[in-house]
Amino acid sequence: MSVRIVTLPKMIDPRGNLSFLQNQTQVPFDIKRTIWIYDVPGGETRGAHAYRTQCEIIIALSGSFDVQINHGEKIETYHLNRSYYGLYIPPMQWRQMLNFSTNSVALIVSDSAYNAHDYIRDINEFLKLKNTQ
Ligand code: TYD
Repeated sequence: MSVRIVTLPKMIDPRGNLSFLQNQTQVPFDIKRTIWIYDVPGGETRGAHAYRTQCEIIIALSGSFDVQINHGEKIETYHLNRSYYGLYIPPMQWRQMLNFSTNSVALIVSDSAYNAHDYIRDINEFLKLKNTQ
C-alpha cells in the first residue's frame, strides 16, 4: 500500500465532533505506539528521516502542517489541516513535517515500538537503498 490519505469517521454533533481510529479498521496495522509533536517554533522541521520497517499514520489533531514525501526525483506535499484525515505512510519513505501553524499538534500512530536502528537519517543513504530495492 502506498502513501495515501485515510478519511477517518467523523461523528458530527452539536456538542462537538468526534473522530476515532482503531486497529485493522481505520488503521491497516496493529497500533503499538503513539507519538505527538507540539510547541513547534515557526519555521522548524521535524521528522526528516525514513523508517526501514515502520508503518505509520500522521494526523493534524490541531492546526495544520505539511508532510513532504521525498522520492528523490520528485517531492509530494500533503497539507494536513483536518483532524479527520490521516496520512498513511508505509516503510521506506523519506518524510518530513514542516510549515507547522501556531499551536498545531501532530499525532503519529505507529505499528512498532521505538527502535533507533529502524531510522535512516541520511537522505543519500535512503535514496541509494530505495534505488536498489
Ligand atoms: P526523532 O524521531 O528522532 O524526532 P525527529 O526525527 O523529529 O528529530 O525523536 C527525537 C528524540 O526522541 C530522539 O532522541 C529519540 C526520542 N524518541 C523516543 O525515545 N521514543 C520515541 O518513540 C520517539 C518517536 C522518539
